[in-house]
Amino acid sequence: MTKRKLRSEAWFGGTGMNAMMHRSWMKNEGLPADSFDGRPVIGICNTWSELTPCNAHFRQIAEKVRRGVLEAGGLPMEFPVMSLGESNLRPTAMLFRNLVSMDVEESIRGNPIDGVVLLVGCDKTTPALLMGAASCDLPTIAVSGGPMLNGRFRGEEVGSGTHLWRFSEDVKAGKMSVEDFMDAEACMARSAGHCMTMGTASTMASMVESLGMGMPGNAAIPAVDSRRNVLAQLAGRRIVDMVHEDLVMSKILTRKAFENAIRTNAAVGGSTNAVIHLLAIAGRMGIPLELDDWDRFGRDVPTIVDLMPSGRFLMEDFYYAGGLPVVLRALDEAGLLNSDALTVNGRTIGENNATAENYNKEVIRPLDNPLTEDGGVMILRGNLVPGGAVIKPSAATPALMQHTGRAVVFENIEQYHDTINDPDLDIDETCIMVLKNCGPRGYPGMAEVGNMGLPPKILKKGITDMVRISDARMSGTAYGTVVLHSTPEAALGGPLAIIRNGDMITLDAPNRSLTVDLTDAEIAERMRDWTPPEPPMTGGYQKLYFDHVLGADKGCDLDFLPGTRGADIPRHSH
Ligand code: FES
Ligand code: MG
Repeated sequence: MTKRKLRSEAWFGGTGMNAMMHRSWMKNEGLPADSFDGRPVIGICNTWSELTPCNAHFRQIAEKVRRGVLEAGGLPMEFPVMSLGESNLRPTAMLFRNLVSMDVEESIRGNPIDGVVLLVGCDKTTPALLMGAASCDLPTIAVSGGPMLNGRFRGEEVGSGTHLWRFSEDVKAGKMSVEDFMDAEACMARSAGHCMTMGTASTMASMVESLGMGMPGNAAIPAVDSRRNVLAQLAGRRIVDMVHEDLVMSKILTRKAFENAIRTNAAVGGSTNAVIHLLAIAGRMGIPLELDDWDRFGRDVPTIVDLMPSGRFLMEDFYYAGGLPVVLRALDEAGLLNSDALTVNGRTIGENNATAENYNKEVIRPLDNPLTEDGGVMILRGNLVPGGAVIKPSAATPALMQHTGRAVVFENIEQYHDTINDPDLDIDETCIMVLKNCGPRGYPGMAEVGNMGLPPKILKKGITDMVRISDARMSGTAYGTVVLHSTPEAALGGPLAIIRNGDMITLDAPNRSLTVDLTDAEIAERMRDWTPPEPPMTGGYQKLYFDHVLGADKGCDLDFLPGTRGADIPRHSH
């Protein structure tokens, strides 16, 4: 028996005209009368789309969730929201994350829904759905779609994204033919699922599990493994109980949960994109979380998961090694986990993972023999980035983490593409590449262009890394000594805007500093000649986004979206 009044009762309960209307129209879907006997209505929020290849198998996942909901005595109702495919969507899927979050929030609140299962996969679908659902605060479980099987190309393991960058550099350096490059295409994406490197999708699936928002095992089960379907079905059963228990999101997404997620991100060598997404999700939940928390909580946590782009293996290997539960147990035993944080299955994160076993200590290494001592994300500050910037040490070259170099500046990504292959470009490997106007407002949407490829003439010398700085993001599958998310961004008049060719820049990551050899007066003097950019469009969502987007240090949400607005029942529609 339901212990509390369900939201759906306001639609389907009673004998009045409105109840008749709500039920009658639903019955055209072939639902028997007892569907409306007061059982919980479970929304299955689906980001399925053929244009989002990583989520193209989600109809099957939705069917498994539906089966579980029915078994537990709930009424499943699948509904679509806008889907965001990282590989196709231009100018960048990130531009639309907040739009989707609004779609999710209003779809949940406006409909007869008592609990929600969020089907998430490709990078932005996870934060977008968590953000929207958080603003409603109903009982919610996120089910990730799972990674693709390991890529295999001519006997070698190849990782989504990571080998795209690697092979493309090999072609430029003359080490790989264009024909082989084309052949690698199909070998990199062998099955349904999202990127199988520890890119943003796998990182966010790990965030779902470490935040307690997913069922144990959520992060790593491959998309095509039968156990992914089992997880989806069990989530369908569980969400019905969660409605009865009134286990709403705010009981799970506490400050402790976010601290756990930050530490987990460090341990798995997760994407820098998680910084932005977790800040945004916390903002929706009203949890105070700031950029410096990433350095504070991630600093002592080494990276122990040896996955590309930081390491060698892929998500399939991670799952067979025991997956995220092994990592969570290791963190817990080292005193690095808030083990009493509650999760969606009603147990604490400590209880869920207490017996996890490590089946492959090369893939998941012990904490005292890590892949990188400095896991996580470092937060840099200085006169070049007064609002902060991030760098991922596990993806960087240690020798470049303290480096002074001459700036080679690209005003935008088009200028970079137009000039980078020019043999006369005045650049050598000691220089620092600086890219402007790719931040949240500047691009718009903060595209993943921060890991600019090196000039061919330098690659041909066998050099594979240089310091790069921008207000952009980089793909979670990418690597290099790349400073990202510079705040304030150039398009908002941050100091990045006035950097010129020849300025001397110093990266001192161990001391968390990024500076340019200019005085405050010189910076102010140059700012006088700076003019802010025009919005990309004079109307529509892109104008709304341009006018309201917050900086990367605040999670890039729109300034009117943070906070939980609850899910009180709206007025009648008739
Ligand atoms: Fe979808 Fe990488 S492109 S997860
Ligand atoms: Mg990406």
